[in-house]
Amino acid sequence: MSNEAGANTSYHQERETANSAPGGCPVNHSWSPLNDDYLAEPYSIAGELRDDTPVFFSETLGYLVVNTMDEIERIFMDHETFASVNVQDPVFPLSDDARHVLAVPDYNPVAVMSNRPEPDHGVIRRHTRGGFSNRRMKILEPYMRQRSHTLIDAMEANGSPLEFVKAFAFPLPGETVFRFIGFPESDDEMLKTWCLERKAFSWGNPTDEEQVRIAEQMVSYWRYCREFTANKRDNRSDDFASELLTALDENPDEMTYNEVESIIYGLSFAGHEAVTSLIGNSLVTLFEHRPAWEAICADPSLIPNAIDEVLRYNSSQISWRRLTTAATSIGGFDVPAGTPIFLNFAAANRESGVFDNPDSFDIYRANANRHISFGKGVHFCLGARLARFETQVVLEVLTDRLPSLRRANDAPLSYFPNITFRGPQTLDVAWD
Ligand code: HEM
Repeated sequence: MSNEAGANTSYHQERETANSAPGGCPVNHSWSPLNDDYLAEPYSIAGELRDDTPVFFSETLGYLVVNTMDEIERIFMDHETFASVNVQDPVFPLSDDARHVLAVPDYNPVAVMSNRPEPDHGVIRRHTRGGFSNRRMKILEPYMRQRSHTLIDAMEANGSPLEFVKAFAFPLPGETVFRFIGFPESDDEMLKTWCLERKAFSWGNPTDEEQVRIAEQMVSYWRYCREFTANKRDNRSDDFASELLTALDENPDEMTYNEVESIIYGLSFAGHEAVTSLIGNSLVTLFEHRPAWEAICADPSLIPNAIDEVLRYNSSQISWRRLTTAATSIGGFDVPAGTPIFLNFAAANRESGVFDNPDSFDIYRANANRHISFGKGVHFCLGARLARFETQVVLEVLTDRLPSLRRANDAPLSYFPNITFRGPQTLDVAWD
């Protein structure tokens, strides 16, 4: 049974961690991923940090920041020394009121995937991976294509110019992951509202009032997932949730029912916002590099590599976290157990030595997929194929139907303040 007695496996934890700099390690007193200049454009700052101090302690964040590809990959591959247990935790302490909301006895999701240690994680992942099959992608493809067309029809009916995130980039990935899981279409609007602010909870710095509101949404969404799973248990259909319940029936000693509920709870967030941002970042970057947009309009076979280049050059996820479980060494510094680590993808994805001309956007780049945006090792993103495929379908349909699509103005883009996820909050587009 994967749920060890006594192990604290709750989904979000607040934990005491040592947050002083390891001896001799450079300390940065001012940088934070939440600084306005970093939120607006992280890459030049991340590049300077990487070149000056490949590993440093961020006083404002209380994390050891690792900026180079070699070290980030080594940390990902050593899951015993560098545990992923903290990846869903709130970065900043929760208010008493938000804690109170989450203390209701029936709010009990457990860590199952990204924040569950081995060996339990490996067992749960094996049963979950089955649901991300080629067959499931093939079933989803006509839905994604038809929905993309419907959303473009609505855009055309509204007329140019128009705000694209609300009109397309936000609804499509949410609806796709809801269909993937098996949630009914009639619940889409309610589900989107509940999931809208989740990134603020674990990766942002929400006010007390916002924390309470998000916590209430999380409890509502968890209750929905429990009811949905209970109904699915008796009414199976051809969807991810049914496959997972069948895996539980066949392997009752390897997963618990509560873990199945928790996988369903976690997937909708994992599968939604990062893809919304990937679609938004793809358009922003391709419009800024117009010949690349024109090239994919003329030859859609270039789209898959262009998507990996967007994931490298302007990723929807620019960091991830780990926590040391034992005394170790990073970048030549002795690091004690209990040190929170911030893996700075924005720095590593633009590292010369890994990528030629790393600051140029090149859809023909031979090693574009060498980026670290989906992580590495035992927790490598389970939805990477879905995220890439979904964005491919979107770009195929958009380039075919609206080849003149472009930004409607050059107003600065705004990015939601958080330490990890990055995509334009709004994007005004125009077409002929
Ligand atoms: C552009 C979109 C996405 C990005 C950038 C992204 C990125 C990531 C990253 C960095 C991790 C952690 C990897 C590690 O710790 O080594 C992760 C894990 C995960 N992702 Fe994604 N993801 C995306 C889309 C999706 C989608 C569409 C789904 C599902 C529908 C998904 C499901 C998951 C799951 C379940 C995990 C945990 C895997 C495990 O711990 O075994 N992701 N993702």
